[in-house]
Amino acid sequence: MFNRLSRRHFAKIAGWSALGLSTKSASGQTPSGTQAGPSNRGQPSSFPGHFLWGTATSAYQIEGAVNEDGRGPSIWDRFAHIDGKISDHSTADVANDHFHRYKEDVQLIKALGAKAYRFSIAWPRVFPEGTGAPNPKGLDFYNRLLDELLANGIEPFATLYHWDLPQSLQDRFGGWRSRETSKAFADYAAYVAERLSDRVKDIFTINECSRLVYSGYGAGIDAPGLSLPPQELNQVMHNVALGHGLAVQAVRAHGRAGTKVGPAENLVVCIPAIETPANIRATEIATRELNAGYLTAILEGKYTDGFLAYAGKNAPTYTAEDLKIISSPIDFVGLNIYLPHHYVVAADNAAGFSLLPFPKSFPHMESDWLKIGPEAMYWAPRQVAKLWNVKSIYITENGASASDQPVADGNVYDLDRIMYLRNYLTQLQRATSEGVPVLGYFLWSLMDNFEWADGFEKRFGLYRVDFNTQRRTPKLSASFYREIIERNMVV
Ligand code: NOJ
Repeated sequence: MFNRLSRRHFAKIAGWSALGLSTKSASGQTPSGTQAGPSNRGQPSSFPGHFLWGTATSAYQIEGAVNEDGRGPSIWDRFAHIDGKISDHSTADVANDHFHRYKEDVQLIKALGAKAYRFSIAWPRVFPEGTGAPNPKGLDFYNRLLDELLANGIEPFATLYHWDLPQSLQDRFGGWRSRETSKAFADYAAYVAERLSDRVKDIFTINECSRLVYSGYGAGIDAPGLSLPPQELNQVMHNVALGHGLAVQAVRAHGRAGTKVGPAENLVVCIPAIETPANIRATEIATRELNAGYLTAILEGKYTDGFLAYAGKNAPTYTAEDLKIISSPIDFVGLNIYLPHHYVVAADNAAGFSLLPFPKSFPHMESDWLKIGPEAMYWAPRQVAKLWNVKSIYITENGASASDQPVADGNVYDLDRIMYLRNYLTQLQRATSEGVPVLGYFLWSLMDNFEWADGFEKRFGLYRVDFNTQRRTPKLSASFYREIIERNMVV
């Protein structure tokens, strides 16, 4: 039964008839985005007419084929093979086998009606040693992928670094502990921009600096698995910021005219506990200070007084020239928004704000860390736009893992994921209807994949993946997202 229904599902994916969905809205209207022209203000429940709907993945989490076409080893290959690092003892040697199945996967994106796709390029495919001789065969995979995306009317958004550092840079320089890695990143960015920007118009530099620093070099739960003291940790973050800035400059110098570039960061999200003017102002101050090591530095060209005072002797060493590079002008800010990090109230203290403790009963998804705070999706872009006068924002990731057990009819009715998405997207719609300049949204993730130290145990996909057979099957949330895209509104 499971197989029969799933196959039918899959075969009919473009029509989605198995789940009884039509391409018309419940009210019988055609999708508002196609009808209402460039802006749908006035139709309060719609997104702007030009809003870009997409999904996201990353190279190491889906590609597999780690030894093919001259790819070099990455720190995640090494890390995942160390016993005990990945909870289910898996590796991403095969993962979703996307390297061989990318054509099928592009059809999955197309079946959602999504018009954009955020993927990442594996640095060790392009420069197996991180520096030195490039590997054109490795780059060719992305040539094939880009051609396939464009042939199917899907706009590619490429991330240059989603954590799969060439192992050789770790061995030779200590990875991001050294600015040699920042410089190597710029050379890689230049090479990619030169060869791919005829087709990729939008490039993200580094995915989630703060997670890669704190989990990879602080807590040791991500590759390279280090636990460095505070000063070194701040230096790693500075080197990553420098790498970002150098890559921005490299893309400008080597990409086609009009290529756009910016970061994709997991902002520390601060939310006013109660929406009073004083709390809203206090929350802006908190956002600026709690992101001072990366995003604030990128957008202001300095480390805030608060950051330097707090860091004290643990501050990174840097030059004025570094700060200029770090704050090289960007075209957009990408935000990965999953959860509220802090609820804030105004306070009569030196900082001007207090962070409230979370009660034990605060709701969360399957994983404890994934707190459910849909307002994050409103306040984060609003604050970024207001604090730094940012004119273009993308939500580069948002989504949730869920238990996703197929029921007797073989389908996954992931009502919890739908609930999560509906609430977050309602808040995003609140932001866009107020004029917050969010241009697009990339749902994490297109399909279940290798969730880092959680292996394959945590599923974030719109499509369920059976990792024994590589069969992809749409979950109910895929139908839900397709409806949203089709109607350009939260349904
Ligand atoms: C953010 C990361 O960019 C992505 O790789 C990860 O899978 C998701 N969060 C979910 O944890």
